Amino acid sequence: MNISEIGNKIFYAGVNNRTASVFEELWPIPNGVSYNSYVVAGDKVALIDTVPACYCIKFLHKIAAIIGNRPIDYLIINHMEPDHSGAIQIIRQKYPDIKIVGNSKTADMIAGYYGITDNLLIVKDSDTIDLGSGKTLRFFLTPMVHWPETMMTYLESDAFIFSGDAFGCYGALNGGIVDSEMNTDQYIPEMYRYYSNIVAKYGVMVQNALKKTASLKIDYICPTHGPVWHERAAEVVGLYDKMSRFEAEPGVVIAYGSMYGNTEEAVEIIASELAKSGVKNVRIYNLSHTSYSYVLADVMRYKGVVVAGPTYSNALFPPVEALMKALHLRDIRNRAFAYFGSYTWAPAVTKRIEAIIEGMKIDVVATPFNMKQSANTDIEESCRTLAREMAAKVL
Ligand SMILES: Cc1cc2nc3c(=O)[nH]c(=O)nc-3n(C[C@H](O)[C@H](O)[C@H](O)COP(=O)(O)O)c2cc1C
Ligand SMILES: [Fe+2]
Ligand SMILES: [Fe+2]
Repeated sequence: MNISEIGNKIFYAGVNNRTASVFEELWPIPNGVSYNSYVVAGDKVALIDTVPACYCIKFLHKIAAIIGNRPIDYLIINHMEPDHSGAIQIIRQKYPDIKIVGNSKTADMIAGYYGITDNLLIVKDSDTIDLGSGKTLRFFLTPMVHWPETMMTYLESDAFIFSGDAFGCYGALNGGIVDSEMNTDQYIPEMYRYYSNIVAKYGVMVQNALKKTASLKIDYICPTHGPVWHERAAEVVGLYDKMSRFEAEPGVVIAYGSMYGNTEEAVEIIASELAKSGVKNVRIYNLSHTSYSYVLADVMRYKGVVVAGPTYSNALFPPVEALMKALHLRDIRNRAFAYFGSYTWAPAVTKRIEAIIEGMKIDVVATPFNMKQSANTDIEESCRTLAREMAAKVL
């Protein structure tokens, strides 16, 4: 079996999923995803996080290939989401004396999901476990990155942090584990997408976690998905800092729905005027064809957002409604926003979008309008005005 020692007596024991088409049954993963688990072998052995239940057999083989017949002394549960906790029961069966390490919030979930109430070791912020041979694990509670029980585990002697979902991304691992062993360019856009899809609602909690770990020397970041970050560790911390503060780059995302092409035609006018105004990053998404997963990633990245769609049974066209709710749910802020709708006999779009964005900390930069049937010269002018006002805000 192919074993990866990613540090001194620190091993990778995770698995790849290249068969699911969606993560959380929701987010497209054309390049798969990895579920990362790690073994730290001091005098005592710690396993950090597990994998989904369906990978148990493979997982047990991997662990056995790493530690042979040695028992595992501690199972560290940084995160209880079942893609990381799914193998807990089988690990307990194989290693009956194992101590499961979590915090008080972990205990409730482990009882509820797996009926486990004994052999737990409950840790508080900054508690440590000494594994011997100089390897001491220290725990940092980082609630809501991305569930209430989430924590990070720091191995001080080696400057490794096991960060849970934080700094994770979509994309299976293709041979290499540590970023220095591979070209990681494909994973950075997937970090935007993973963050915007899964974590974005908790920007404030991400900031708290970053502050809590800011003084640590960190050479390796070991997340639960995607590559281990070493060469690019500082860069991905910077990326998380930027995203969780809702900082943005110059550029505009246009997301629209259109059944018969009229709304789309107006979108093309806006895009063309944005380009003429000097906006080089213009990203257009037809929401009937591209999952809003990708739109959210670009919303996290770029300063400007334009949303447009038809009236549909006196409501907003469903794919556009879904995006607007997703933006609201994540409390997207610090963005320049503009929108318009289309209709044939009674408009409903601008009123609906106005209701959804009420209270959001975004800046509506142009007067919303409803286009009747198709773009006349007045509508064309409204589109160009919207684009120029947007350009002025994002450049
Ligand atoms: C199923 C369906 C429901 C619609 N409901 C409304 C409506 O309630 N009010 C309205 O003014 N137009 C309604 N329309 C017309 C569309 O809003 C119109 O076709 C659209 O705005 C044109 O833009 P498009 O070419 O981008 O699809 C409906 C159209 C369809 C197909
Ligand atoms: Fe998670
Ligand atoms: Fe996860």
